[in-house]
Amino acid sequence: MLKLKGIKKSFEGKTVLDGIDLEVKRGEVVAIIGPSGTGKSTLLRCINLLEMPDEGTVTIGELEVTAPQIKRKEQYDLRGQTSMVFQQYNLFANKTALENITEPLTRVKHLKKEEARRQGREILKVVGLTEKEKEYPSRMSGGQQQRVGIGRALATHPKVMLLDEPTSSLDPELVGEVLDVVRTLASKHITMLITTHEMDFARSVADRVLFLADGRIQEEGTPKQIFDFPKTERLKIFLSHYHS
Ligand SMILES: Nc1ncnc2c1ncn2[C@@H]1O[C@H](COP(=O)(O)OP(=O)(O)OP(=O)(O)O)[C@@H](O)[C@H]1O
Ligand SMILES: [Mg+2]
Repeated sequence: MLKLKGIKKSFEGKTVLDGIDLEVKRGEVVAIIGPSGTGKSTLLRCINLLEMPDEGTVTIGELEVTAPQIKRKEQYDLRGQTSMVFQQYNLFANKTALENITEPLTRVKHLKKEEARRQGREILKVVGLTEKEKEYPSRMSGGQQQRVGIGRALATHPKVMLLDEPTSSLDPELVGEVLDVVRTLASKHITMLITTHEMDFARSVADRVLFLADGRIQEEGTPKQIFDFPKTERLKIFLSHYHS
């Protein structure tokens, strides 16, 4: 479903991604862990070309683009296959839960209002917020807001969802509801890449975990392999900073 080959990215002469190769299967959930500033967000942003890689190939489904000579249309098409969920929800404060979800349907997909609302209600069901349809973000909990954010990302039927620290603004007791939603999406075969600093979350959500450091994937494996049987010294030291 998603394939990266030789993705490189530097900022002001400083190499952040130094040749990332990755293949993710349809419906697979991949968690990306690693030290702060190591390029986890940059990697997600290079996949939807929010950030233009210096080099490398991104393939999503049938669509393959090679940086840096990517045409605007290719960029647009590729971005249409993905959607991103942010740490800070990024909801419209003056729109209800339902309106936040239907917004990309009317604006990007040009659906009629009634059809958008019908699909929006389906999505509210998936993220478990049917009863919050008319609620505004300021009157919802962080977990509920993040579920609206995930719902909005889901509305355009992306092949790949990119979630950048989706739980790090949440109180610990609200992480579980986001986890449940991610699990529901995985069961619907949505491919997901999730960056996180929460090792418990990574362990419970992911089929596969990548440890990113010094511009490369240093180690990868199942949550059990990564968290219980880390191989590299680099990963062992990283994990020793967490209590999980
Ligand atoms: N637009 C930019 N311009 C210049 N430098 C940038 C830009 N975006 C990211 N960087 C740098 O690239 C490096 C990687 O940043 P990135 O945000 O990808 O790290 P991260 O792994 O997501 O960190 P965190 O865990 O703190 O979220 C950092 O050194 C950052 O300062
Ligand atoms: Mg980040």
